[in-house]
Amino acid sequence: MIHLKMKLLAAATAVLLTACSADPESADTVDADEAAIEHVMDKHSASTPDEAYITHLDLELAVDMAAEVITGTATYDIVNHGKGRIVFDTRGLTIAEVKDADGRVLKHTLGDSTFLGRALMVEIGPEVKRLSIAYRTGAGADALQWLSPQQTGGKRHPFLFTQGQAILTRTWIPIQDSPGIRITYNANVHVPAELMAVMSASNTTTRNAAGNYSFSMLQPIPPYLIALAVGDIEYRNIGPRTGVYAEPELVDKAAKEFADMENMVIAAEELYGPYRWGRYDVIVLPPSFPFGGMENPMLTFATPTILAGDGSLTALIAHELAHSWSGNLVTNATWDDFWLNEGFTVYFEKRICEKIYGQDYAEMLAVLGRQELTRTMHDLKEDGHDADTRLKLDLAGRNPDDGMTDVAYEKGYAFLTLLEAETGREKFDAFLRGYFDAFAFKSMTTEKFLAYLKEELLDPGNVSLDLDAWVYQPGLPANAPVVASHRFALVDSALVRWSSGVPAMELATGDWSTFEWMHFLRGLPTGITTERMAELDKTFGFTASGNAEIAFTWFEQCIANQYEYAYPALSEFLVHVGRRKFLTPLYTALAGTESGMLVARTIYKQARPNYHSVSTHTIDDVLGWQKMTEPVTM
Ligand code: BES
Ligand code: ZN
Repeated sequence: MIHLKMKLLAAATAVLLTACSADPESADTVDADEAAIEHVMDKHSASTPDEAYITHLDLELAVDMAAEVITGTATYDIVNHGKGRIVFDTRGLTIAEVKDADGRVLKHTLGDSTFLGRALMVEIGPEVKRLSIAYRTGAGADALQWLSPQQTGGKRHPFLFTQGQAILTRTWIPIQDSPGIRITYNANVHVPAELMAVMSASNTTTRNAAGNYSFSMLQPIPPYLIALAVGDIEYRNIGPRTGVYAEPELVDKAAKEFADMENMVIAAEELYGPYRWGRYDVIVLPPSFPFGGMENPMLTFATPTILAGDGSLTALIAHELAHSWSGNLVTNATWDDFWLNEGFTVYFEKRICEKIYGQDYAEMLAVLGRQELTRTMHDLKEDGHDADTRLKLDLAGRNPDDGMTDVAYEKGYAFLTLLEAETGREKFDAFLRGYFDAFAFKSMTTEKFLAYLKEELLDPGNVSLDLDAWVYQPGLPANAPVVASHRFALVDSALVRWSSGVPAMELATGDWSTFEWMHFLRGLPTGITTERMAELDKTFGFTASGNAEIAFTWFEQCIANQYEYAYPALSEFLVHVGRRKFLTPLYTALAGTESGMLVARTIYKQARPNYHSVSTHTIDDVLGWQKMTEPVTM
């Protein structure tokens, strides 16, 4: 594994830029200007794009819901630099055969198994431009969550969805699994006749009687954005370019909830230029989906926990839509540059929301975000992870997922709002629009962004900022713009009144939105008596709230104040919902006391089979689960 060692060495010293020259023969398969492709060293991929890299993927897949296996063939167009081999990432895959375009078998070997999986090395002559890999997924395919009928809304059919970000695509497709790689793809997917398949590509809106579905993604995307969902799914139209897929029980509710989606696309385009992906649809997944949303191109994957009934949690859709520019169009080159995806997206999301819902709304969103950042920074520091409070991360030797925190989102957002404040909104907007245009369908490193920022925005405007402090140092610099909300100021006075003994009933909460309730619940004093918790609950019905954000924030307070009356509902929530953002704080809080740990483990035992690997990976750690249940093997 000499090349891996060399890669690590290179990573330790400097960022290695490898310019890859164009190959005219495969030019018809890629939109991106190949001559301009620069592959940056990625510590989380074994691929060696300086030797050969993929530009297009054709998938032929059969999904066996009963056996929980995907079997198929992945065929790639490649740019071959004649170095004798191409290297793919795999994890847990069984490789049956590798062939060239003429059907000749190509020799392949698998590298050692690490947390990154196993490198698949294929020997290729200089003439090889296309090759295929026949393979099947294994039991530990972490991208995949196979749900039994019981775990779905309808309870009649099984369900499958994939989650690729950050390094999980390699568990269901052999691929060069680096965000610096870009491919177009086509897929033919066979599923049981009673189910429907959708992908992060052009989709049909109707069922195919034979269970055969075809997809194409004509724009080059990074592999973490390849996604598939299979289940009893229906479609509802929202606007000319927008719609929603969900299980039949939920689809009408979802269409109503996301009524603003088309307007969001329009607002986004007005801000930062044309939406380049054709359609924008959302699929609402079963509640075990580990994230709020995932920006799979053309088809955002979303948790049903944003269906509050009043549209109050749809900022999340604005966020995933914004990734169609920041992330999917201009993509972080490595996971160390993750803030380029998320920080920009949080900024963009708030601008969309400001346009549609007004400034009050955007301000409340910003304050809630800052509260989360403050908490995350505090926790990271306390846990000895101060280095993870930098925007530019160093995730060498770690699962990138473990270093992806609110810092990328909210410190990134704070940085961009500072840039806006220093240069003026008009200039900053023009800069961002130009940035998305200039680097469309390309990957971006932090360093390249900073150079572009200086050249295009800071130097011409005579603005000087301590970029090093913002990007490379831990903590939040003192010149971070202050965020404030006058609506929250009213909530704060309600909090003061209630804390001084005024009954909950007498608080003027009549026109509060979800955000105000969240702010109220976060701001409750410590050490609340059971009587006063009960008073709040009786007055506002928090325990029985159908709004997942409100319920979650309330449950945090219930744990902090040991208000055990709410524990059956808390337990029900934790068993039902697999969204990691909710699970981690709740289990962590429970684990803080001996009796709470017991409660947490009892709930987790029941809930764990419902969770995606992304969530179990985190919560196992929180509760010391693996250590407790599995014999230690060396
Ligand atoms: N791309 C992320 C989800 C993600 C991040 C998956 C890192 C895997 C690794 C997505 O866009 C996201 O940020 N989702 C948030 C919602 C958002 C409104 C902050 C979430 O899931 O909570
Ligand atoms: Zn995001």
